[in-house]
Amino acid sequence: MTKVRAELLSAIEQRLAHPTARDLAHAVGRAISDGVVAPGTKLPPIREVATELALSPTTVSAGWALLTRSGTIRTDGRRGTTVVDRSEPRAGRYRQALEHQTHFRTDLSTGVPDATLLPSLTGALAALTTAGTPGSYLDEPVLPELREVLRADWPYDADELTIVDGAMDGLDLVARSVLRFGDRVAIEDPCFPPLVDLLEAVGAQVVALPLDGDGPDPDALAEALRTPLAAVVLQPRAQNPTGVSMGHGRADALAGLLEGTSTLVVEDDSAGATSISPPTSLGPRLPHQTVHVRSFSKSHGPDLRLAAMSGPNDVLAAVAARRQNGQGWSSRLLQRILLSLLTDDAAGAAVAAARHEYARRRRLVVDALAATGVPVGGTDGINIWVPVHDESAAIVRLASQGIGVTPGAPFTIGPPVQDHIRVTTGLLAEGHAEVAAQIAAAAQTSGWRSRGR
Ligand SMILES: Cc1ncc(COP(=O)(O)O)c(C=O)c1O
Repeated sequence: MTKVRAELLSAIEQRLAHPTARDLAHAVGRAISDGVVAPGTKLPPIREVATELALSPTTVSAGWALLTRSGTIRTDGRRGTTVVDRSEPRAGRYRQALEHQTHFRTDLSTGVPDATLLPSLTGALAALTTAGTPGSYLDEPVLPELREVLRADWPYDADELTIVDGAMDGLDLVARSVLRFGDRVAIEDPCFPPLVDLLEAVGAQVVALPLDGDGPDPDALAEALRTPLAAVVLQPRAQNPTGVSMGHGRADALAGLLEGTSTLVVEDDSAGATSISPPTSLGPRLPHQTVHVRSFSKSHGPDLRLAAMSGPNDVLAAVAARRQNGQGWSSRLLQRILLSLLTDDAAGAAVAAARHEYARRRRLVVDALAATGVPVGGTDGINIWVPVHDESAAIVRLASQGIGVTPGAPFTIGPPVQDHIRVTTGLLAEGHAEVAAQIAAAAQTSGWRSRGR
C-alpha cells in the first residue's frame, strides 16, 4: 500500500466511532471537512478499505452509497471513486458536449424537438380555467382519468402506473430507490449521456451492451448476465443517439434471457408518440420485473415536465416513499393539461403530423448520406448517428459551414471502435440535401490525429 493510501485510511480510522456504514460515511465526510482528505483524492478499492479498517465489504459498500447519494464522492468509470470538489460544479458529460462557443446558422446539436411541431396548448389552457383549483395536499397523486387513458395505450398490463416530472426524473427516482453502490447495470452502447451520469451518480458500475439494427445484442446481454446485473436500462424506441427501435423478436429474446433473474428492466421510452414504431416493452413477458417510462417531452412539450412510469408494486412504492422527501407528486394542473392533450383530436392530429414529419426529415438526410456512401443505421426518431473518419475534424468542418452537431464520444461507453457525430435531423425543416452533402464531406475529413497515425 502506498504512503498516501495508508495516511488516508488512518485519517478515516481515527474518525470512525462505530463499525457501521453510517459512521464510515461520517468519518470520511469529517476527514474531508477537516482538510485531511483533499477534493479529487482517489479512494482505495472497497476490499482494501474493508481489510484495513476491519469492516465487511458490504459495510464499506453501503458507506460509499451514502457518500455517493450525498454528493461527497463520485464513481467515474475508469478513474475510480474520487472525492468530489464541491467548489467546482461539474457539468455532466452531455452538457459538456453541448457547450458551444459559437452560434450556428443550423444548430443540429441539441437533440430537442422542433417547437413548431408541438401541439398547441391554447385549448388545454382555456379548459383549465373551468377545472377548479387544486387546493389539496391529499388528493390522489395521479389523476384517475389520466391513468385510465394511459393504461388503454400502455404496452402491457402493469402492476402500477404513476406520473413523474419527465423521464429523467422517473429514471433518477428508480436509480436512487433501487440501486446500491457497486451494483452492475447494463446499458446500451452508445447511449444518452445523462443516463450514464445518472447511474454513475449512484455509484453503479456501468456495463456496455452493444447495439445492432434491432436493439441490444442478446449475446452481449447473456455474457453480461454471467455476473448478476441489478438492472438493464433500455431505450425501446428511437434510441438516442442511434434511432434504433427494438423489434418484437429482439424484445422477446432479451426477455427470455432476463426471465428468472433478479435483474430489473428499466425502459426509457423518451421518444414516446414521436416514434413511428409501436410501443415496445419487455413488460408483456416480464410484467413484475419491468419499469417502463414514457416521456411526453418530445411529443407534447418539454416544459410540461411529465412522463408516465409503470412498474412492479415494490419499486413504485419505494419511489413514492422517496418522493415524499421531495416534491411529493407531479402537479395535477399539469396532469390536466396532458389529459386534455391526450384526449383532444386536434392535439392528437398535431402529434401524428409531427411523428411523420420527423420520419420524413430523418429519411431525407439518411438517404442522401447513403447515396454518398455514408451508412447510417436506425429508422426512427429525431437523431442520426453518423460514422465519421475523425470526430473533431468533422465537427470543426461542419462548424465552419455554420452547422452544429454533437460529438460522439460522450455517448460512447466501451472503447470507441469508430468515431461518430450525432445530428438532430428532427430540427431540419428544409435543405436536407445540402446539409447531407456537408455532413458527408465532414465524415470523410481527416484530422491532424489521423494524418499523424
Ligand atoms: C434517451 C432520453 N431519455 C430521457 C430524455 C429526457 O426526457 P424528459 O424530458 O422526459 O426528462 C431524453 C431527452 O432527449 C432522451 O433522449
